[in-house]
Amino acid sequence: MKISVVGTGYVGLVTATCFAEMGHDVIGVDIDHEKVQRLSRGESPLFEPGLEAMLKSNLSGGRLSFTTDLSVAVQNSLFCFVAVGTPKGEDGSADLNAVLAVARSIAEHMDGYRVIVVKSTVPVGTCDLVSREVSEALAHRPGPVDFDVVSNPEFLKEGAAVEDFLRPDRVIVGVSNPRVEELMRELYSPFVRNGHPVYFMDVRSSELTKYASNALLATKISFMNMISQICDKVGADVMSVRSGVGSDRRIGMPFLYAGVGYGGSCFPKDVKALIHTGTRLGVEMGLLREVEAVNDFQKLWVLKKLRDLIGPLSGKSIALWGGAFKPDTDDIREATSLTVLDGLIGEGARVSLYDPAAMPSLREIYGDSVCFGENPYSVLAGADVLVLLTEWRVFRNPDWRKIKSLMSGTLVLDGRNQYEPSELSRHGLSWHGVGRGC
Ligand code: UGA
Repeated sequence: MKISVVGTGYVGLVTATCFAEMGHDVIGVDIDHEKVQRLSRGESPLFEPGLEAMLKSNLSGGRLSFTTDLSVAVQNSLFCFVAVGTPKGEDGSADLNAVLAVARSIAEHMDGYRVIVVKSTVPVGTCDLVSREVSEALAHRPGPVDFDVVSNPEFLKEGAAVEDFLRPDRVIVGVSNPRVEELMRELYSPFVRNGHPVYFMDVRSSELTKYASNALLATKISFMNMISQICDKVGADVMSVRSGVGSDRRIGMPFLYAGVGYGGSCFPKDVKALIHTGTRLGVEMGLLREVEAVNDFQKLWVLKKLRDLIGPLSGKSIALWGGAFKPDTDDIREATSLTVLDGLIGEGARVSLYDPAAMPSLREIYGDSVCFGENPYSVLAGADVLVLLTEWRVFRNPDWRKIKSLMSGTLVLDGRNQYEPSELSRHGLSWHGVGRGC
């Protein structure tokens, strides 16, 4: 089937590439000429495992192309996916300007029936606004031009997006009539054949499903972070509590890891937007406000713990492992590393950092205020404390003997509860985790 995907950011590029991989004919559209040229050469602007290889093979297979010309894309596709950004507006609501502008442009180029699929994360009611925008843009046409607007939110995790797209837990599709349901069923039939369910529902339920999913996952994390604070006070171990709680099938193990707080471009923004929606509708949103408050508190955990352990941070040498908001991405949006770096630099500490992918973005912000290393060990010389912020695989089994010999201090702050305390103490290091009673 013929598809265009407008917006080749994270979501749009993964969507376009994976639909092509499933055998559809896909045109990716972006206003950024340079990006379109790079994509047409098979270069992914994103760090996302598996994406660039798939991009190259689908380009050479002729199923995927990129253009800045929206008119050509719209005229050559039945499905027009909208995958442009919905940044956080000043009042916490999602900014829909780009989504609505793209909808209007699609309408201007339509020469017959099209399915406009909203993939961007948008608040409930946005598909209605898109319909209105398209109808208005079509109003001056001499004859009728028919269209449907569909909600089809994404549930891709950064670092696992290709896998999540090709083998999803579920695909959610919000439709308003049987005709478009049939078309969407055909579009997603390769997924159903592979055993992955596609759930059809009304448009508003689909829009809300996306926010409810992210808000519930954020709630699980904040809940466990709150429990971790109690663990520290009473000498309990949050990892044991997690095993006990998560093995109840009604609860489940995932997203119950206490740590340094959630970050990224999705949870913080989507929790805020859902609070905004609920508040506007007169719904009491205190639960999600607490989720945010616990997360803000948790992001300060490293700084508080450091002050407790070594006193004033001025002049202390702190080595950080990890800067990305999670492993397998170079994304630092809302990352806890930013809170920690601001605090450490503000309090006069000397900071060194290594991250396998996020250092270019961090360098742009912090320049010479942070000493960036070539590898995990190169940031340790003379460090008073080593802090693990992001659980990249490269940090999983480090050489503790070498670490001990490089550092001047003995403290290791494990912000992701990755290490075995007894192993560190064997090497003369003193380990402190999140909610593990020490
Ligand atoms: C999240 C959702 O998991 C996706 O389903 C969704 O599609 C996506 O947002 C989106 O809305 O586009 P993502 O932001 O890539 O995906 O990252 P996650 O893997 O969900 O992690 C988010 C944050 O939570 C990270 O900072 C991570 O370190 C933290 N986290 C996760 C914890 O602190 N504890 C956990 O147990 C799990």
